[in-house]
Amino acid sequence: MHDDALSIPVDEAAAAALASSGLRMAVLDPADDAAFRSWAEADARGFHDAAPTEEFLAELRGDSVLQRAVGVYDDGIADPELPVATVAAWPAALTVPGGEVHGWAISAVTVAPTHRRRGIARQMLESELRVAVAAGLPLAILTVSEATIYARYGFGPATWSTDLEIDARRVGWIGADAPGRVQQIRRDAAVALARTLLEEVRRTTVGDVEVVGHRFERLLGAPSDPAEQRKRRFIRYDDESGTPRGLAVYRLVEDATDFAGHTVEVNQLVAATDDAYRALWHHLLELDLVGTVKAWLRSVDEPLRWLVRDPRRIRTTELREHLWVRVLDPVVALAARSYAGPGRLGLRISDPLGHADGTFALEVDEAGHAVVRAGEPAEGPLLDVPIDLLGSLYLGGASAVVLAASGRLRERDPGDAALADRLLRSATPPTLTTWF
Ligand SMILES: CC(C)(COP(=O)(O)OP(=O)(O)OC[C@H]1O[C@@H](n2cnc3c(N)ncnc32)[C@H](O)[C@@H]1OP(=O)(O)O)[C@@H](O)C(=O)NCCC(=O)NCCS
Repeated sequence: MHDDALSIPVDEAAAAALASSGLRMAVLDPADDAAFRSWAEADARGFHDAAPTEEFLAELRGDSVLQRAVGVYDDGIADPELPVATVAAWPAALTVPGGEVHGWAISAVTVAPTHRRRGIARQMLESELRVAVAAGLPLAILTVSEATIYARYGFGPATWSTDLEIDARRVGWIGADAPGRVQQIRRDAAVALARTLLEEVRRTTVGDVEVVGHRFERLLGAPSDPAEQRKRRFIRYDDESGTPRGLAVYRLVEDATDFAGHTVEVNQLVAATDDAYRALWHHLLELDLVGTVKAWLRSVDEPLRWLVRDPRRIRTTELREHLWVRVLDPVVALAARSYAGPGRLGLRISDPLGHADGTFALEVDEAGHAVVRAGEPAEGPLLDVPIDLLGSLYLGGASAVVLAASGRLRERDPGDAALADRLLRSATPPTLTTWF
């Protein structure tokens, strides 16, 4: 059903609410080039980016058929073609324990400064959730520029990520050598490899989301940004049989006063095997003339910490929530993932927007498969969960015990949250490796 999601017409309830304040909500026609350009300009303005260049517009243009973009227009302003608010969304595969589920990936949420705080964002977000439901998708996902906005719509932080700064001279590599080899490759080869490798690794990385369209190009340095593109370097790890199993994309930032102390910024390090992971990090940490290695959007539990003599030389410069999940259909969403062990758990979910409100019984068998039913289990372990925290628990990244200790989640009996953790927690922390 979600294949048809892009052709769902404008949400009538939101359109009517906005019309009552003189605004017009419209779904963008991908064939309408002028409307697309205005929409892209408004999106860039919302994020304080420079107006898009022709090259960037050409890159974005491909995305207009991959997403359902919505604009809100004010016919009373000087330039009524320019939307005063934007949002775009598309069905995206999200990796969950034991498989994947498609969610409605929401992006490009902007409201013009002249039209803020009039409830436009609320209308857009609530309408996107209804569209996701109409498309048959059990959840919605997004990444945020501000963490204060989306809990009110039922989103909760589901993955966390770290930015790292490594003192390459002092960290001391102690990892075992990998049997294959690392080599420099050109961008074309990196793009070709990334198309398959990123998706392969994404499928085994809980919390990761498939990357399509211009966002994929940007990971490797987009053609529309030639200065940046020229700076990118690409290394590949091939296993003993010569099969590429890992790719790192990085750039060098010169230190004008210390030619032996340049900085390497790692834009991507994607490894399909543990050998590839070790080999790529080893290579980056032992580059000559480099004093510092920085990396973004890494897992909160990187194996790298165990591959160096002095883990204190790996500083976490940022720890942030990254992927936000909004469960819309608990029965479908909870059955789509696997669980760590057998057990029964009741969930009393409160959802002010109504989509997931109610009580559900999760019954997991020995194989980790769940059957989920609406209706309250008469007895046994039960949690009272606000909808945003269900999103946080969903991928196994948050601990129910910790949430219970915070007082925001309630257990029927002591030990119920611990049982939830035994079922839900994932073996490694869920991680999203991109922004969208
Ligand atoms: C964030 C933004 C989309 C909000 O749009 P808006 O139309 O002013 O929001 P609304 O009037 O619909 O307000 C919706 C709710 O969010 C709250 N809110 C709005 N902006 C907020 C912010 N920056 N931080 C915290 N809360 C915010 C409002 O108080 C309101 O709360 P309530 O409904 O509980 O009373 C808009 O300010 C914007 O475009 N900012 C720049 C781009 C951006 O940050 N986008 C978010 C990308 S993740």
